[in-house]
Amino acid sequence: MNYDDYEILVNKEHLLPKDYCPNDLIVTDNNENNFHQFKDPKLKPMVRKIIYPYLEKMMQDAKINNIEFIVDSGYRSYDYQKVLLEALIHEKGTEAYSLVALPGASEHQTGLAIDIAYYKDGIYFDDVKESDPAAIWLAQNSYKYGFILRYPKGKECATGFQYEPWHFRFVGLNLAQKLFNEGVTLDEYYARKDNTILKR
Ligand code: DAL
Ligand code: ZN
Repeated sequence: MNYDDYEILVNKEHLLPKDYCPNDLIVTDNNENNFHQFKDPKLKPMVRKIIYPYLEKMMQDAKINNIEFIVDSGYRSYDYQKVLLEALIHEKGTEAYSLVALPGASEHQTGLAIDIAYYKDGIYFDDVKESDPAAIWLAQNSYKYGFILRYPKGKECATGFQYEPWHFRFVGLNLAQKLFNEGVTLDEYYARKDNTILKR
C-alpha cells in the first residue's frame, strides 16, 4: 500500500496508519484567522508540496473571477484529528461522527485535502455555504486543477459524511476530470473498481 499515492482512498473503511505523515508538507500561507490556530498557535495550514502548484493556480484563477479563498485546514495529524473529533462529540454528541472522521479515517492526514475559507466584504468566512460564490466556483471548476468536492450533497450514503461545500481533495487531473464527468465520489469509484475485479 502506497500511502503517498495521490489517488489514495481514505474513508471509514480505508484507514491510514497512526504514524503516517507525508514527508513533503509545506505551509500554504500565514493566515492569521485560521480557526485551528486558536487551538494551537503553532498550527499553520499545510499541504503536500506536490499539490501546491495546482492549488496556487486554482487560487489565482478564482481571484480573476473575484473569488478569494485560503486554506483554513490542510494536513491534520492522527492525534490532532482525535482532538477535533472529541471536541465535536462534546458539542454535538453522536452527530459528530457524520461531520468529523475518526483518527486514521480522515484524508486531512494525507496532506491532500483542504478546507477553504473565503473573504467577502473584508470579512473572513470559514462557515462555507452551498450558495456562496466560492463554493459554487470551486464545485464547478476545481477538477480543472485536480481537485474534487469530496463530500457532495446527495452522496451522504456513499461518503458516510454530511455535505461539506468547503472540503476539496486533490486526486490529480485525470481522476478529478473523470469523477467530475461521471458525477461519482471517490468511494463509489473505488467500489466500482473492486466489483469489476471481483467479477473477472
Ligand atoms: N470532515 C472530514 C470528513 C474529516 O474530518 O476528515
Ligand atoms: Zn475537511
